Amino acid sequence: MHIDVITVQPDLLESPLSHSIMKRAQEKGLLSVQLHNLRKWALNKYGQVDDYQFGGGAGMVMMCEPLVNAIEALQKEHTFDEIIYMTPDGARFDQKAANGLSLKGNLLIICGHYKGIDERIREHYVTREISIGDYVLSGGELAAAVVIDAIGRLLPGVLGDETSALTDSFQDDLLAPPVYTRPAEFNGWPVPEVLLSGNPKLIDEWRYNQALERTRQRRPDLLDEQ
Ligand code: ADE
Repeated sequence: MHIDVITVQPDLLESPLSHSIMKRAQEKGLLSVQLHNLRKWALNKYGQVDDYQFGGGAGMVMMCEPLVNAIEALQKEHTFDEIIYMTPDGARFDQKAANGLSLKGNLLIICGHYKGIDERIREHYVTREISIGDYVLSGGELAAAVVIDAIGRLLPGVLGDETSALTDSFQDDLLAPPVYTRPAEFNGWPVPEVLLSGNPKLIDEWRYNQALERTRQRRPDLLDEQ
């Protein structure tokens, strides 16, 4: 999978993409992410990419022209399955959306700043708008990092244990069951006996029931959606 990102703050994305699982995904050639500084397509030598909003009001708006020039330059190199705009008024990102996006080939992600991007870019170029939650971040970069991480770890071969993404929380609309590691007893607190039984059927059953109970208690809305 290839992902291009248009941003005015590539530094904010560089670190989360160059560690741990995302680093490994790129080293293995399963994921490539290219960050593009929008200022490269700025209108003048001051690097201007934003302007005052028509109708007045506080906050700048990211201008059409640099964005169009950036998008069209990148479209010459890739055919994008989706042009995604990170915005708090987009569709709420969840595991289903991550699963769907992980099946795509090329994505272009636009990170907004200030008051956002000129609406005409949203109308004429953007194919999908994503929010990572009902709160406003200073820019789309951290949100884009969240989305890229959630997608990247689902790509076949990225996680060491092929099944581990399948048992994450939210797959099958259930939260993950509790997990334990050695020692079998710590501070007088024992690990549930069934996990030491060596009986895979009993263990699967226990995990499923725990996942169901946890979901019932903490996120009953997930069960209503089924
Ligand atoms: N940009 C600013 N806030 C955001 C959010 N909650 N989700 C996605 N992009 C954003």
